[in-house]
Amino acid sequence: MSPRVVLIGPMGSGKTTVATLLADRWGVPVRDTDHDVEAGEGREISEIFVDDGEARFRELERAAVSTALAEHDGVLALGGGAVLDEGTRTLLDGHTVVFLRVGLSDAVKRVGLGVGRPLLLGNVRARIKALLDERTPVYEAVATHSVVTDGRSPDEIADEIEALLGG
Ligand code: S3P
Repeated sequence: MSPRVVLIGPMGSGKTTVATLLADRWGVPVRDTDHDVEAGEGREISEIFVDDGEARFRELERAAVSTALAEHDGVLALGGGAVLDEGTRTLLDGHTVVFLRVGLSDAVKRVGLGVGRPLLLGNVRARIKALLDERTPVYEAVATHSVVTDGRSPDEIADEIEALLGG
């Protein structure tokens, strides 16, 4: 079993929204590894970061990605930093992975105050800029396809993903 598509990209790129939309269109289940980690731990991600640190979160996230890739045959959305972990990147080899591209302005608009996102504490705009600069090359290296999301609705983004994947 293998997801039909895996969505990666920064916070505010619309992974969860677009994943839900594609899954509805295709009549398949949707899964989100942030949600899987929280459910497995019985704690929110921000609590895991504060209590145990980011490195521990990445381990839990890698395990959640591994399980989801093995068990899930619908649409899978990963957390924005999942592909920073080498083990997680290796797990994605051979899967169809779409990078949702987003520029700074749209990411800041979509993330709002950054509530519940521990990596955005402080100055949201400056933090998002730093994360986009650092991570864009990693997303590009991992993805088999990419889609620009700026100024586009979830429906338009889903249309392009469907076209890329051959309808
Ligand atoms: C993170 C993104 C979040 C979540 C965690 C860390 C990141 O997921 O996994 O707060 O490192 O970019 P979303 O991209 O779904 O917000």
